[in-house]
Amino acid sequence: MTTKVTIPALQARKGSSKFTMLTAYDAPFARLVDEAGIDVILVGDSLGMVMLGYAGTAPVTMDEMIHHARAVGRTAKRALLVGDMPFLAYQLHDPAEAVRNAARHIKEAGMDCVKLEATAKHAPLVRAIVDAGIAVVAHIGLTPQTAASLGGMTVQGGSLEQARALVADALALEEAGAWAVLLEAVPAALAQRITARLRVPTIGIGAGLDCDGQVLVTHEMLGLFPGFGLPFGKRYAEAGDFISQGIRQYAADVMSGSFPEAANSFDIGQDVLDALDV
Ligand code: KIV
Repeated sequence: MTTKVTIPALQARKGSSKFTMLTAYDAPFARLVDEAGIDVILVGDSLGMVMLGYAGTAPVTMDEMIHHARAVGRTAKRALLVGDMPFLAYQLHDPAEAVRNAARHIKEAGMDCVKLEATAKHAPLVRAIVDAGIAVVAHIGLTPQTAASLGGMTVQGGSLEQARALVADALALEEAGAWAVLLEAVPAALAQRITARLRVPTIGIGAGLDCDGQVLVTHEMLGLFPGFGLPFGKRYAEAGDFISQGIRQYAADVMSGSFPEAANSFDIGQDVLDALDV
């Protein structure tokens, strides 16, 4: 029997064993990631670029998130499932709306918890969602939904002022009840300090080796998406080249008449053909 990964189990691993997180946005990838034993699946709003062809994450709607999260929720059996909150699903500082949107991920999509991009300012919203019984991952550092006001898709926390602000964000969000803090594009030594200071686990992307967990965007890591132009998206496979080769071979076989073969076709009795007057 499959034993489901839980939040307390991941929290208990802090300081002793790392955990893994990858994105998935549909049933085939949810199955592959889950069966590979990845601990946490994130239905990230990166689906805006990876699956829907938007230029960024800002246009992604709650309905689009739920559509994809439901496919993942129906498929994955073991991993803990995290549904991302898209831009303006909670930023209007209306706790009731934030709770309602977070609850859609749980009620409609079968997610186990939600993630939202945050600073210390969002602590009351995190508290409201947690008080409603929904666990939250707080995403700090480079927060792509508001990257324009952070100076673009670039490393965060490099100056003393920025580093202090990031530590304050992490502590405020932990205090508000976040079960984990995701650090994106944060200098490794700063991420190490934040990880040591927090009681809850950190999850890093472009935040060095010392975070308690690591996350990557699966389609980027497998070469199925050109990438976000950031240095931390390591390529583990060139699946895009492999798929493209298969597609080109199919087209070449059709054009040359070598597909379909007899094994790909159905037979009919000669008597039927003989009686057919066409
Ligand atoms: O949406 C996403 O995929 C993310 C990851 C980059 C952490 O937020």
